Amino acid sequence: MQTELSRKLGIEHAVFGFTPFPAVAAAISRAGGFGVLGAVRYTAPDDLKRDLDWLDAHAGGRPYGLDVVMPAKKVEGVSEADVEAMIPEAHRRFVEETLARYGVPGLAEGEASGWRITGWMEQVARTQLDVAFEYPIRLLANALGSPPADVVRRAHDRDVLVAALAGSARHARKHQEAGIDLVVAQGYEAGGHTGEIATMVLTPEVVEAVDPLPVLAAGGIGSGPQVAAALSLGAQGVWLGSIWLTTTEADLHSPALTRKLLAAESGDTVRSRALTGKPARQLRTEWTDAWDDPAGPGTLPMPLQGLLVAEAVSRIHKHEAEPLLGTPVGQIVGRMTCERSVQAVLDDLTRGFERAVDRINRIAGRSGQ
Ligand SMILES: Cc1cc2nc3c(=O)[nH]c(=O)nc-3n(C[C@H](O)[C@H](O)[C@H](O)COP(=O)(O)O)c2cc1C
Repeated sequence: MQTELSRKLGIEHAVFGFTPFPAVAAAISRAGGFGVLGAVRYTAPDDLKRDLDWLDAHAGGRPYGLDVVMPAKKVEGVSEADVEAMIPEAHRRFVEETLARYGVPGLAEGEASGWRITGWMEQVARTQLDVAFEYPIRLLANALGSPPADVVRRAHDRDVLVAALAGSARHARKHQEAGIDLVVAQGYEAGGHTGEIATMVLTPEVVEAVDPLPVLAAGGIGSGPQVAAALSLGAQGVWLGSIWLTTTEADLHSPALTRKLLAAESGDTVRSRALTGKPARQLRTEWTDAWDDPAGPGTLPMPLQGLLVAEAVSRIHKHEAEPLLGTPVGQIVGRMTCERSVQAVLDDLTRGFERAVDRINRIAGRSGQ
C-alpha cells in the first residue's frame, strides 16, 4: 500500500492513524502506518512532553506526527472565568437535573474535570507546538481551520509536513492557499467534528480542488476494501480515527464504554453539538438525546458548551453512567466488534486491500497480473 506520499514519509502503508493515545500512535507507526497524536487534551506542556518522550521512545524509530486544534474562529483574549460567566443559569440547571435524573454522583474534591477551554485556544496550541518542534515529528495536522502562516513556516523550516482537515472542497482550497502540504478530506461519517458531505463524494471533489496536493481520505474507513475505494478516488492514503478506540493499546479508562462501542451498530452515532457546541459525530446516548431534544434548552456555541458540560462528562465517565456514557466515534463503529491489537487492525487493512485489488483486477479482466 505505497503511494508517493507514503514513500516520501518512508512508511510501509499509506495508513495514517489519529489517536489521543500515545501507545496507539506508537503502535501504528511500528506497524508500518503513520501514528498521529492528538494534542488537544494537553493543556500542560509538561504532560505533552512526557507523552512525546514516550512516543518517541516507542515508535521504533518510525515517523510520527502531532495534531493540534487551532480553530479558525479564535478563542482569544478571554479567560476561562469570562467564558464561565457567559453560561446561562438555565443551562447549568439542565445539566444538574439531567445528571440527578440518572443518579450520577459528583467528582471527589480535587478531581479535575477533563475539559479545559484552554486546549482550544491558539496560544495553547502554540505552546504545544513549542514542545512538539523539539521532537522529530514529520507531520503537523490542524483541525477546525487553516494553520496560521507563521506556523506553516516554522514547520517547513524543520522539514515538517503540514496537514489540515477539510469537510468541503472550499475549505480544502483555503488550506491550500495557506501553504499546507496535504489535505485530510474528512467526510460526514467520521467521528469527531464533521461537515455534511460524505467521504465518497468529498474525496474526489477535494482531490480535484487541490491538485497536485496529496489528499488523505477520512471518515468511515475501517476495512481494506474501503482503503482501496479511497485510493481509487484519488487519495494518496487514508486517515483513520475511530477504529483505534477499541484496540488493546487504547486506554479509554472505561470497560463499560468499550463494551458500548463493541456493541454499537453503524446507525448508533449522531452528529450532535452536545459535546463542544459544534457538530461532532459521537455515540448516540441519552445524554446527546437530552441536548438534541427540542423541549430542552439546546446547546450553546463553542467554547461555552464544552466548558458547560466538562465536569458532567467527567462524572459520567468516572461513574460509568451507562445510558449517558459516550465518546466521539464515527459510523464505522458498526465494524468495531472485537478488541484487537493495532498490528491486527493494520494486517486486516492490508490483507483486505490486497483482496479488493485482486477482485477489481479480475473484474477488469486482468486476473493473474
Ligand atoms: C475520539 C476521537 C477524537 C477526535 N479528535 C480529533 C482532534 O482532536 N483533532 C482532529 O483533527 N481530529 C479529531 N478526530 C477526527 C479524526 O482525526 C479523524 O478525522 C476521524 O476519526 C476519521 O474518521 P473515522 O472516525 O471514521 O475513522 C477525532 C476522532 C475521534 C474518533
